[in-house]
Amino acid sequence: MCGIFAYIGNRPAVNVIISGLKKLEYRGYDSIGISTLEDTLFTYKCVGKVSEMQDTIADKHLVGTIGIGHTRWATHGEPTEINAHPHLDESSKFSIVHNGIIENYMVLKKELETEGIKFLSQTDSEVIPHLIAKNYKITKNLEKAFLKTIAVLEGAYAICLISEYEPDKIFAVRKGSPLIIGVGKDECFCSSDISPILKHTKQILYLDENEYAILTKDHLDVKDFQGNLLPKELTKSAINIEDVSKGSYDFFMMKEIHEQPESIIRTIEDRCLVETGEVMLHSINVSFNQLLSINRIVITACGTSLHAGLVGEFFLEKFAQIPVEVEYAAEFRYRNPIIDSKTLVLAISQSGETADTLAAVAEAKSKGALVIAICNVQGSTITREANGVIYTKAGLEIGVASTKAFTAQITALYMFTIYMARIKWLISKETRKHLIKQLYNIPSLIKEIFLSEDHIYKIACKYYKYDHFLYLGRGIGFPVALEGALKMKEISYIHAEGYSAAEMKHGPIALIDENMPVVVIALKGRSYEKILSNIAEVKARKGQVIAIATKGDISILEKVDDVIYIPDTEEELTAILAVVPLQLLAYYAAVLRGCHVDQPRNLAKSVTVE
Ligand code: AGP
Repeated sequence: MCGIFAYIGNRPAVNVIISGLKKLEYRGYDSIGISTLEDTLFTYKCVGKVSEMQDTIADKHLVGTIGIGHTRWATHGEPTEINAHPHLDESSKFSIVHNGIIENYMVLKKELETEGIKFLSQTDSEVIPHLIAKNYKITKNLEKAFLKTIAVLEGAYAICLISEYEPDKIFAVRKGSPLIIGVGKDECFCSSDISPILKHTKQILYLDENEYAILTKDHLDVKDFQGNLLPKELTKSAINIEDVSKGSYDFFMMKEIHEQPESIIRTIEDRCLVETGEVMLHSINVSFNQLLSINRIVITACGTSLHAGLVGEFFLEKFAQIPVEVEYAAEFRYRNPIIDSKTLVLAISQSGETADTLAAVAEAKSKGALVIAICNVQGSTITREANGVIYTKAGLEIGVASTKAFTAQITALYMFTIYMARIKWLISKETRKHLIKQLYNIPSLIKEIFLSEDHIYKIACKYYKYDHFLYLGRGIGFPVALEGALKMKEISYIHAEGYSAAEMKHGPIALIDENMPVVVIALKGRSYEKILSNIAEVKARKGQVIAIATKGDISILEKVDDVIYIPDTEEELTAILAVVPLQLLAYYAAVLRGCHVDQPRNLAKSVTVE
């Protein structure tokens, strides 16, 4: 996933764009670049982060009041200066930035090369400015050249274009990759997400699929790919600037860990009524009869969202009594899955832009399945592709390591489970009221876990130098173990594996020695005794054990090396509580290892390429 930011107005564009790119760095940060336009185009790009570019161009005194900028997460072509965006045509009269993938770029590139065009980069994106230049020679009109160009592009793209030929305009197009437009006083902005716009204006407009916009400093036109003007309304964003700043935290991730009580409350408060046991999911946009005709559920997602799906599987099978399977999106879409109109596909995605999950949704729809998205981003692609949506209301999640979105996804799955069980008359009103009441208790229980932060920090200090971790869990503790391992590996670069504790004897136990700390989800419940046996097996082989245990369980203290207690709750909801210490453990280990927690190497916030 890359970040695009464009500006047109009365201010020097360079400063506005650099500030905007800093807010987008979480989307990709291996190289960056900017083009501004005064009489001629000025372009600068480099490997590294925005701050490095800022220092380099500070003495260029760029005064152009129109410009485009880009932060890159490399897909085609390694992270180099020449592969960084913006990309220009041979005459340097056209400059573009692109997010997404041009799937037919090889064909287009070969055609252009046979016409004598010399490519400088290895990227797919570079075909775009050359095509625009070629089409401009024919049309002598930038809008027509732009339209002719996007007509031949296949794949997903968000593109911004500026040109010396019409220096008072920015062209922007959305097809499969988000673009948001902000309208201020005599200035306009275009961005991959809302965070950089909010400091300038809250008047925004989400470009829809297959739409393009023409921005001048005091006017905005939005059109379809046939060039028809579309009636569009600006809306006032409900997101506040505080939501996109770290506040007193060193990293967004820690801020977002601490926002989990509030994000769960936002996710449930206007949709779950304790008094009546009712769950209302208006945006689900699917009738009771359609849901009642469902005879199985497939949950598909990637990464952390898949782990949330594994937790949801327990809820749905227990309370809604419906068969559930959880599938990695990339595997699901290539396996020719046996699904039909009686299958409900629950597609979980924080960003709503993950290419593999979007492809799984397309596959499910092509086979007639009903698709409901669980998503955290209003207006994202998946919310437009699915039949219905259950929004998590975690707010902007900027840290690459997903935390508050994960617990909000579990919350949404819990809500949907009660909703399904209700329409199937499987649980009484009293049971529903009890389950919802337990859910409303969760935010305060999370806050109780925060009281152990110093203790968790000390445990991180004890173990952060190890190079390998094993995370074990049983039942609903298993997806928690997977998620804890993912958090540790993705931000501290420690190799960490999540495993079903029952699987220990089938291989992983060979790994156990004094150099392999083992985190065990050892909560009171059906599998507690079995987990204690697994702990004993680890200890018998000199392994060190960090247990996530139920508050009040004193007996475990003598069986392990370290204990992190969490409050007791409904067994199905323990996943939300048990993951919080693991988020904190990973965070502190990463900080102690000097890692950039919000922008871990090689990663981006949303993987918009397959
Ligand atoms: C989680 O910490 C990772 N950043 C990653 O696994 C992420 O969950 C995955 O890429 C799916 O993203 P999505 O929820 O936006 O689809």
